[in-house]
Amino acid sequence: MTAHQILDGKLVSQELQTDIARKISKRLEGGFQPPGLAVVLVGNDEASKVYVNNKIRACERTGIRSAAHFLPRQTSAKALYALIDELNEDPEVHGILVQLPLPEHIDETEVTNRIDPDKDVDGFHARNVGHLALRQPGLRPCTPRGVMTLLNHYGIDPKGKHCVVVGASNIVGRPLMLEMLFAGATVTCCHRFTRNLDDHVSQADVLCVAVGNPNIVDATWIKKGAIVIDIGINRLTDGRLVGDVDFEVAAEQASWITPVPGGIGPMTVATLMQNTYEASL
Ligand code: GUN
Repeated sequence: MTAHQILDGKLVSQELQTDIARKISKRLEGGFQPPGLAVVLVGNDEASKVYVNNKIRACERTGIRSAAHFLPRQTSAKALYALIDELNEDPEVHGILVQLPLPEHIDETEVTNRIDPDKDVDGFHARNVGHLALRQPGLRPCTPRGVMTLLNHYGIDPKGKHCVVVGASNIVGRPLMLEMLFAGATVTCCHRFTRNLDDHVSQADVLCVAVGNPNIVDATWIKKGAIVIDIGINRLTDGRLVGDVDFEVAAEQASWITPVPGGIGPMTVATLMQNTYEASL
């Protein structure tokens, strides 16, 4: 295997959480209340349960007060709105996160826009999306912000580089395009209708893949020396957890690469703590 360096999201997320814990304990000494995060999960999706539990554990590590609301799958939209309204009004709750995806009978856009935008630690509310697009201060989606924090930690500057983002979701692909654009990258976004995906991928100086499918991008397409950010998390039938990119093959080409697990996943969780802390100020 040729020389590649690991973008160690686990390590950097721990450093970020230690920094947040220190800031919170300092504020507690000053008589301030701890930040509070409400996490809402509707239904029994196994992956979502793991993510939610990771978020709650991170709250415990950083000194954020967390309240988990586990609701049955059949919960009506009306009942979910009532809970959100209550959390919006609660002065001890600074951040509200409704884990996605939601069951089909509940409209995700209606739900995310029901959350007080000042408590929208996911950065999914239309006001925060607008602020990000206009480059105004606001809460920014955790995964894209976590990607930028990780690159910054390793002194990697996207300015002038060609960044290819594969995937155009609300949660990752689109906000990540904007983050990269504002960092001075030339951005290409590939999606389900993109033709000749191999041509685009092979031109990437920074390749970010956020599809949720390990069979879309062939790692042999990757340019020598590229920086590879793998945002996918996929559970294979044999139980293994893998990203969207074949790590062994991509590592042959890459100068820097994120592992899965231990790359962007922990950065998302640490960034949620950062957003919750900032929302409490
Ligand atoms: N589902 C997958 N990623 C996320 C995320 O960052 N936030 C929420 N709320 N749901 C998700």
